[in-house]
Amino acid sequence: MQSWYLQYAALRQDWLGTALAPLADTVSDDLVPAIEHGDFPRWRAALDALPDWTVANADLVNGVILQRATPLSDAEHATLTQTLLRLHPWRKGPYEIFGVHIDTEWRSDWKWDRVLPHITPLTGRTVLDVGCGNGYHCWRMAGAGAKCVVGIEPMLIFNLQYWALRKYLPEWPVHLLPLTLEQMPEQLAAFDTVFSMGVLYHRRSPFEHLQALKNALRPGGELVLETLVINGPRGQVLVPEGRYARMPNVWFLPSPATLESWLSKAGFVEPHVVDVNLTTTDEQRPTAWMSWESLAQVLDPQNPALTVEGHPRPLRAVVVARKPIL
Ligand SMILES: C[S@@+](CC[C@H](N)C(=O)[O-])C[C@H]1O[C@@H](n2cnc3c(N)ncnc32)[C@H](O)[C@@H]1O
Repeated sequence: MQSWYLQYAALRQDWLGTALAPLADTVSDDLVPAIEHGDFPRWRAALDALPDWTVANADLVNGVILQRATPLSDAEHATLTQTLLRLHPWRKGPYEIFGVHIDTEWRSDWKWDRVLPHITPLTGRTVLDVGCGNGYHCWRMAGAGAKCVVGIEPMLIFNLQYWALRKYLPEWPVHLLPLTLEQMPEQLAAFDTVFSMGVLYHRRSPFEHLQALKNALRPGGELVLETLVINGPRGQVLVPEGRYARMPNVWFLPSPATLESWLSKAGFVEPHVVDVNLTTTDEQRPTAWMSWESLAQVLDPQNPALTVEGHPRPLRAVVVARKPIL
């Protein structure tokens, strides 16, 4: 029997003859075997166990909140909770699914609240969210009026968490593809807004990342980029030796002014940092839904202004810029 998740045939069909047609060619059924994971059978069993309930009301404006016409019984609530917990770790959220509160590691809604007031309204726009995790912000982008949201995320478990939501929200124009930015067609020039949040510092070559983001945007389109930064003047960059907050894959942390200068150098216009925010242990913390270590465990217990390696603790900036028309 064909599963309802990780299916892209209808999408490919819809995109033929549109600006997203080259993407339709990229989304082949070979993508999923390429990201296969030993836990896939276990995760698949969890998806198969999700109940066939209908959403009576979906609120994607104030959160990602799904309601059924009738409240769940205690037994239904417990079963749904246990089934969704089998897709651990839930990092990005929170989600409210028929009264089950998925208390994710991150309060991703707080990031969204910092971003949304500063960007061109998403109404009617075609949007790309690069490194979208389980797609939490993609649903919020649709809630903010986007015509079509494409999220790309290479990790299988986060794709499957998206499909758990998708089961209940099949009509919304939110599509998550198991792709890296590097696997996207070059020079797509199709998106009105491109988001890259929490990805730049994972890239060894930040300018190649910026170039690829620009290639995905249509002329005049908007880039919304969020990344780790350090306090400091224009020109200052931290390249942490070894790990940063126990992460082995952190490469470049510019100052906010440096980040703006990178965007100019990469050919964007009017780059402006709209928010700088120190990540707190209220925003990123272990929960029942992500029970591994989190921010508090990677800060120096003697001096929480520093990571365990002695680097400045996570500080994040949001920068907005445009791709030139010509
Ligand atoms: C720190 S998370 C950020 C998630 C979400 N965008 C947010 O801001 O909450 C970074 C995500 O980017 C994904 N990622 C890393 N490299 C990527 C690449 N080259 N292309 C697309 N996604 C990538 C990771 O798998 C991870 O899920």
